[in-house]
Amino acid sequence: MKKKRILSGIQPSGNLHIGNYFGMMKPMIDLQADNELFCFLPNYHALTSQTDGEVLAQNTVEAAADFLSLGMDPEKSVFWVQSDVPEVAELTWVLNNVTSVGMLERATSYKDKVSRGMTAHHGLFSYPVLMTADILLYGTDVVPVGKDQKQHLEMARDIATKFNTLYGETFVVPEPLIAESTGLIPGIDGQKMSKSYNNTLEIFGGKDDLAEKVMSIVTDNTPPDEPKDTKNNALFMIYSLFLEESGRSSLEARFHSPGLKYSDVKKELVEVIWDFFAPYREMRGGLYGDSETVIKILKQGAEKARAAAESYLEAIRKKTGLKYWNR
Ligand code: TRP
Repeated sequence: MKKKRILSGIQPSGNLHIGNYFGMMKPMIDLQADNELFCFLPNYHALTSQTDGEVLAQNTVEAAADFLSLGMDPEKSVFWVQSDVPEVAELTWVLNNVTSVGMLERATSYKDKVSRGMTAHHGLFSYPVLMTADILLYGTDVVPVGKDQKQHLEMARDIATKFNTLYGETFVVPEPLIAESTGLIPGIDGQKMSKSYNNTLEIFGGKDDLAEKVMSIVTDNTPPDEPKDTKNNALFMIYSLFLEESGRSSLEARFHSPGLKYSDVKKELVEVIWDFFAPYREMRGGLYGDSETVIKILKQGAEKARAAAESYLEAIRKKTGLKYWNR
């Protein structure tokens, strides 16, 4: 059976956290085994919120190094930076013409960002069109995304279908793969873990910083000698991410028996997180601490991505009439 082409991207926002890891990076890395994985860093998208060029460039290389250290395999997968295949911006322009303004106006992610004070500029508004181009340019079958991106995927399907209707079968209409767990990863304050809430635990931060943050995870005030509720318990939920099924059951049993002190569990969790990422940290400090190596891998990835885009580019240029010669 033909392997499915799976594509996803994660914004290079610097200091990737364990919510990014369990929500998106690890599932992607695990998918490499049985699929054709396309994974990229959407730095054009990052322009919607990052206006410091030095910072964006640095975040891009760092996010790439993080991904590679955590197991992204550039031999097995196609791993690149979005803007290294600038043809995606060309496709965005073409797709703009089959995208209705009304649909973009209904985008909850856009409305949320504006209501949180972001400037309502056009880049933010047309974010879903660029995301659609990312997906369609490489003939993607499946897109694993968090629940917050579900609507964007529906838009991508809508845009692909419109283009195909207007110009004839061209694009694969992508299927979403919604990870139910995403969004359920709480930060240290119990809200969804997110950089914008300043409640994250970093993957590759220092140990003191990690300890300080873990010790400040919000807990209820059940006294130590009473059983603890595990539902909506941020400490339990975060700890569980690092455990297999059986470990999780015994942690649950510990929470349910009297005598458990939250502070003891937190101290233990610091060590668990630290040890979990230890081998990756070594990679991060070694091979992937060298930005030249990382950049070389990214450039090779972009070549592979461009090759996959070729037939789609050829088709859209021809069908739209942009290619006016040799018709
Ligand atoms: N919008 C996605 C996010 O913020 C990132 C992204 C950009 C993406 N282009 C994509 C995800 C294409 C999947 C497919 O998480």
